[in-house]
Amino acid sequence: MKDSNTKLRNSCDIWILPAMVFASFGLLVLVGFASFGLSPRADATNTPTPDPALTGHFGRMFHLPPFAPPTDAVRDALMQLGQPGGIMDANDDLAAGPVALITDPNLSLINRNNPTDTAGVTFLGQFIDHDMTFDQRSRLGFPTQPIITQNARTCFFDLDSVYAGGPSGNPELFDPSDPIKFLVESGGQFEDLPRDPINHVAIIGDPRNDENMMIAGLHAAFLLFHNHAVNFIRTEYPGIPDNDAYLMARRLTVWHYEWIILHEFLPHVVPQSVIDDVLTNGRHFYNPLHNQAFIPVEFQITYRFGHSMVRPSYRANLHGDNGAPFFGMIFDPAGEGSPDPVDLRGGARAPRRFVGWQTFFDFGGAYSADAKPNKRIDTIVSTPLFHLPLGTIFNGMPPDSLMQRNLLRCLTWQLPSGQRIAQEMGITSLSSAELAELQQFRPSFVTETPLFYYILKEAQLREDGLRLGPVGARIVAEVFVGLLQLDPDSYVTVQPDWLPTLPTHDGTPQSFRIIDFLTFAGVDPASRGQ
Ligand code: HEM
Repeated sequence: MKDSNTKLRNSCDIWILPAMVFASFGLLVLVGFASFGLSPRADATNTPTPDPALTGHFGRMFHLPPFAPPTDAVRDALMQLGQPGGIMDANDDLAAGPVALITDPNLSLINRNNPTDTAGVTFLGQFIDHDMTFDQRSRLGFPTQPIITQNARTCFFDLDSVYAGGPSGNPELFDPSDPIKFLVESGGQFEDLPRDPINHVAIIGDPRNDENMMIAGLHAAFLLFHNHAVNFIRTEYPGIPDNDAYLMARRLTVWHYEWIILHEFLPHVVPQSVIDDVLTNGRHFYNPLHNQAFIPVEFQITYRFGHSMVRPSYRANLHGDNGAPFFGMIFDPAGEGSPDPVDLRGGARAPRRFVGWQTFFDFGGAYSADAKPNKRIDTIVSTPLFHLPLGTIFNGMPPDSLMQRNLLRCLTWQLPSGQRIAQEMGITSLSSAELAELQQFRPSFVTETPLFYYILKEAQLREDGLRLGPVGARIVAEVFVGLLQLDPDSYVTVQPDWLPTLPTHDGTPQSFRIIDFLTFAGVDPASRGQ
C-alpha cells in the first residue's frame, strides 16, 4: 500500500478559496475549491516520509523534571510493571473462551465492565487517535526530544488518516469510475476495506486502521459516509463540478465527525464539568506558541488510557458466521497466519469479517439489548494486550506487551510524574498509600509515578474507572478543545454556531451521534437487516 504518511490537508494555503453560501444546508458553508493536481503538495504519491510542512512535531505541555532517569534499572522496573502476568494484567481466563468472557459475570470481577460506555467507544477513541498522532520515530525507552520527533499525522481532527492526499495525491484510495468517491470493497456479505489481492493489506490512509476488525469497520464506515455525502451533495446541487462536490462532501463528513468528538466521545471519557470549564474559562496548560497546534507528549501518553477500555473478546456481529454470531478474542496467537483468523485481528478478508454495530453502540428500541459494555479505565488491562501480534506494532519489534511499551514511552519522552503535573495544575495528587503497590518495582515510583500508570490509577480511584480522573481529564479536554479551536478548518473555528445537517435518530440536529453517522453510512443494523 501507499506510505501511510502521504497526506494532504485541505487547508487554505493550498486551495483557492472562494466562499459559497449553500442555502439548503441552512447554514453558511465556506468551501475551498480544489484544483486537483495543481498543488505541489497534492502529489504525495511518492513521498516516503512525512512532510514536516504538513504534519509537524510533538511538543511539551509541561517543562518539569522527568519522573526517573533513563537507566537500565528504570527500564527494568518499567518492564516488570508492564509484564504479562504482572500487576497490570487482568489475567483473564482465556481458556473460558470469547463467549464466556462476555456473558459470565464472574469472569469480569477483576477486569470490570463500564456500565456507562458501550464497547464501541474504545474503537471510536482509537480511530480518533489515529487521526491525530503517529509516532514512527522515537526510541522506545531511550530519551528522544519531542520537538525533533515527527508526528506522521496532522494533529487536527481532519481525517487525514482517511483522505490522505485526496484524489490527486492518493488516487489508489478512490474509485476509478467516480474518482471523488472512495473505493470500498466487499468481504463477501458486507463492506470491507480495499485490499491488496495478494497479501490482503488494506489500501487506506493509515495502516493502523486495519489493526483489528472494529477499527477497520469504522474506517470502512467513514469511506461509505463520504460516498453517501457525495450523492447527497450531487442531489442538492445538480451539475455541481466534481472538485466542489468532493470538497463539500469532505467538509460535511469532517464536521459531523468533529461534532461527535465534542458532543459524544469527549463527554464519555471526561467529566462534562471539565469540558465546560475549558470551553468557558479557556485552556490553562495547552497554549501553543503562535497558535501553532501540536500534539504534546503528555497527551500522547495520557490518551493511551483507551488501552484499558479494550475487552478481551467481542461479538463482532450477530449473524455473520453462517447465520451464527461471530465471537472472537481481540487477539489470539492461534489466529496467526490464517486467512480467516479465529480472532478479531485485521488484515484478513472473509464473509464473516464485518461489524454488526448494535453490539458496539446503542441504536435504541429493540437494539438496546444488544449493546455490550466497555471495560473500565483502571490499571487492570485485558490479557490479550500483553501479547500483541507483532504485526500490530509499527516496526514489528518487541516487546509485545502494550503496557511495557506505554511505560517505556514515558521514559522516551522524559515525562514528569503524574504527581508533578497534578501539583502544577493545583490538583491534590494521589497519595503514596494509594500507589503503594509500586514500591516493589522501584520505591521512587510511589511518589514519582510514570504518567501512564498514574492516569489509569487516578481514573480508577477518583472516578471508579468510569472516566478519567482530574489530571487525565484536564489534559485530554484541553488538547481536544484546543485542537478544534486551533484548526482553521474546523467547524468550531469557521462557524462556531454550526449544527449538524444530516438526519438524526430523534430529529433534532444537536443530537447527531455516532449511531446517526453509521446510519447515514448505511452500516446500521436496520440497513444490514441483521
Ligand atoms: C485493540 C485496541 C488497541 C491496540 C491493539 C492498540 C495498539 C497500540 C500500539 C501497538 C501502539 C504503539 C505503542 C508504542 O510503541 O508506543 C499504540 C499507541 C497508541 N495508542 Fe493504541 N491500541 C489500541 C487502542 C487504543 C485506544 C482505544 C486508544 C485511545 C482511546 C489508543 C491510543 C493510543 C495512542 C494515543 C497511542 C500513541 C500513538 C502515536 O503517537 O503513535 N489506542 N496503540
